Amino acid sequence: MPSLVNPEVELAVRGFILDQEKMAEVVERMTKEMKMGLAKDTHPRAVIKCFVSYVQDLPTGKERGRYLALDLGGSNFRVLLVNLRGESDVTINSKSYDFPKSLMTGSGIALFDFLAECLAEFCMDHGVAEEGLPLGFTFSFPCQQQGLSKGTLVAWTKGFNCDGVVGKNVVALLQEAIERRGDIKINTVALINDTVGTLMSCAYSRPNCRIGLIVGTGSNACYVEKTVNAECFEGYQTSPKPFMVINCEWGAFGDNGVLEFVRTSYDKVVDKVTPNPGKQTFEKCISGMYMGELVRLVLIEMITKGVMFRGDSSQKIFQRWSFKSAYISDVESDPPGEYRACNKVLNDLGIIGSQEPDKEALKLICEAVSSRSAKLCACGLVTIINKMNINEVVIGIDGSVYRYHPKYHDMLQFHMRKLLKPGVKFELVASEDGSGRGAALVAATAVSSKNYKLSV
Ligand code: GLC
Repeated sequence: MPSLVNPEVELAVRGFILDQEKMAEVVERMTKEMKMGLAKDTHPRAVIKCFVSYVQDLPTGKERGRYLALDLGGSNFRVLLVNLRGESDVTINSKSYDFPKSLMTGSGIALFDFLAECLAEFCMDHGVAEEGLPLGFTFSFPCQQQGLSKGTLVAWTKGFNCDGVVGKNVVALLQEAIERRGDIKINTVALINDTVGTLMSCAYSRPNCRIGLIVGTGSNACYVEKTVNAECFEGYQTSPKPFMVINCEWGAFGDNGVLEFVRTSYDKVVDKVTPNPGKQTFEKCISGMYMGELVRLVLIEMITKGVMFRGDSSQKIFQRWSFKSAYISDVESDPPGEYRACNKVLNDLGIIGSQEPDKEALKLICEAVSSRSAKLCACGLVTIINKMNINEVVIGIDGSVYRYHPKYHDMLQFHMRKLLKPGVKFELVASEDGSGRGAALVAATAVSSKNYKLSV
């Protein structure tokens, strides 16, 4: 059957196609960059930082107690009360708070005051304001940790850009905000990245879980490394514990130019309009914050050239960020030849009366962007698995793109199989509530080993 799609559209998306050879090249370059991040002498100039998380124990299933967790870093902010009662017996009460957009780029003090205010309200509602419960702080930005409960923010990502936080210990900023209020008693015992939470949460029920992956607003992964290879950890040669979870911060891969061969002109435009141009190159090719905008840029080019939606104009589509990444999942969820979800998306965008070839073209553009994302993620996971040199692994995954895109899981699996050495077995598992449960599990280990300071 001849393609319904205009050849101009096919030409426009060609740059997003990654063949096997290019994927193998991505793995090779990424392997080099990760090694630089881990090694002490090259770490300062490495782009994939491979930060030490100070998490050295995976859950045993024996963790008990009540813990609070804060989850900041995606599209919403949550407070959670997690009750670990034993083997798979976990109850979670949580509340999502509307996060005023202005806070993302305001002052750091205002941000932390808001977190403390939500936390206080939540604790009062649940009658735990006075209990001094241990808190795990899931703060999903690159942090150089100095211990389990201490870490300085290296840079903001994902559209955040608050003053006075980069270079500061974020646990101290949170604790100070709590103390400024003076109405709740809380001990922040652990600072964790969302990837680490996801790994921990998945490992709770799947002991073979060794990698945590997020494909949501941002993208990143962590994995279990041998302590002796975690050279940036001061005790890497003497620690009695054999493993260390490494927060790769793979989003920054390519910030030194090594990914130019997979980037398109659209990627360059997206990069320019973000608050952190030149940074998070890999993440900007993969994650939900940027995928929709990439699709929109191709679309408006096609509209301007008169190739798509002839005669239909929509002001909304010309507004930056108006094409949500969730639309990609919608458009791709229609069965072949059907356009129910696609029509709804077009309607939302104010484009009416479009023809079948336009809808097929839109689908093609969405597929081009989402399959490149899944291929790059597959490259990242294969890099990690090769580095770990293991034959069997479970990967815990969270994030809106992975959860809601109808084909993401299958694409990831397919491309990983093609890239991995034969015989390597892996399983991709959606991790339940990683940021909450995972933070509580890390907090539980911190409390039991008493390797935290009560005040910062
Ligand atoms: C960004 C953050 C990283 C986080 C990821 C997923 O890449 O820098 O810390 O894990 O987003 O939320």
